[in-house]
Amino acid sequence: MIELAPSILSADFARLGEQVHAATEGGASVIHVDIMDGHFVPNLTIGPPVVKSLRKATELPLDCHLMIENPDEFIPIFADAGADWISVHQEACRHLNRTLHLIKSHNCQAGVVINPATPVETLSEVLDIVDYVLVMSVNPGFGGQQFIVSTLHKMRRLAEIRSQRRLTYRIEVDGGVAHDTVADVVRAGAEILVAGNAIFGKGDPKKNAQELLKAATEAALQKV
Ligand code: DX5
Ligand code: ZN
Repeated sequence: MIELAPSILSADFARLGEQVHAATEGGASVIHVDIMDGHFVPNLTIGPPVVKSLRKATELPLDCHLMIENPDEFIPIFADAGADWISVHQEACRHLNRTLHLIKSHNCQAGVVINPATPVETLSEVLDIVDYVLVMSVNPGFGGQQFIVSTLHKMRRLAEIRSQRRLTYRIEVDGGVAHDTVADVVRAGAEILVAGNAIFGKGDPKKNAQELLKAATEAALQKV
């Protein structure tokens, strides 16, 4: 099943609740929240108070993508603020196994993220722990960047490993997912589609979400 996870990074922050509702009416089933610290990535975004407000504004799961250097320090805080899913970068975690268990101990779904330059093989020892793997298809830090085509093989590889090892993680993709790339990511095996600019960049988020989800679902049917 394909899920659409609009990234609020490209939303109008002064009308966040309204924009989240519009995307939800368009079929979004997860809200993707980009947490950046200005160190791990060259941008600063939002912190726990915004997650807390979003928690009251929507019933959808909040997918908190931590692009920060010291995730262990903030996982309990984001969990308390209302995060349902928390993902951490492989590149940011010295003790990745411990960090993933920390997420689970807060009753959140645990995800691991890899940058475009990081191979899938670096995750071999944690694939049986995680609930989802997030493949970055742009270098993290900003919305509206161009999709990096060479990341597609990592989605295919993750789907292959999952069936070979009989694992159950889901595959998420983040960065440059739009009308021209959505069919490729779905055919490669992505199931949770993060999209910021394509949903909130221009026009009506409800209509944008409906159209992107329709294209994704059609591509998923062709796959079979
Ligand atoms: C980038 C973020 C993404 C971003 C995606 O660092 O992790 O979630 O919002 O934005 P688009 O869909 O515009 O590439
Ligand atoms: Zn993200």
